[in-house]
Amino acid sequence: MAEQRTFVMIKPDGVAKRLVGDVVSRLERKGLTLRRIRVLTLDEDVANRHYEEHLEKPFYPELLAFITSGPVVAMEWSGDDAVSVVRTLVGATNPKEADPGTIRGDHALQVTQNIVHAADSPESAVRELEIYFPS
Ligand code: RTP
Ligand code: MG
Repeated sequence: MAEQRTFVMIKPDGVAKRLVGDVVSRLERKGLTLRRIRVLTLDEDVANRHYEEHLEKPFYPELLAFITSGPVVAMEWSGDDAVSVVRTLVGATNPKEADPGTIRGDHALQVTQNIVHAADSPESAVRELEIYFPS
């Protein structure tokens, strides 16, 4: 049993498509626990902190424009192996390759507009949670 915290964010497309309840329901049905939640719109500074590993990538300008385009839902979840369990529920980065039954596999077609973000390691989760829920 490895109790972990993870950071999950419903991106502007997920909020616009009214998928907040669907995403929360999937994680709850799996047995994970919602700890904190807030709605906000990212400014450029927060987006740059969140995606610091991608700042120099060719796709970053498109990602930045998209992720700041409307409200998002930032959440802390916890549970046994929560980081990898959530990544499995979210599915592959490119929704065209995401398995049916995953959030991206069921709801998205384009790589930029892929509904949800989830931390990719326990260390990333701690770093990202501090951005959205500063202690
Ligand atoms: P995320 O961080 O949003 O949970 O997504 P991820 O770990 O599955 O994928 P990552 O490599 O961290 O990429 C971050 C986000 O950038 C956009 N992206 N676009 N056009 C492209 O080739 C491309 N590659 C990545 C996606 O929105 C991806 O979720
Ligand atoms: Mg990532």
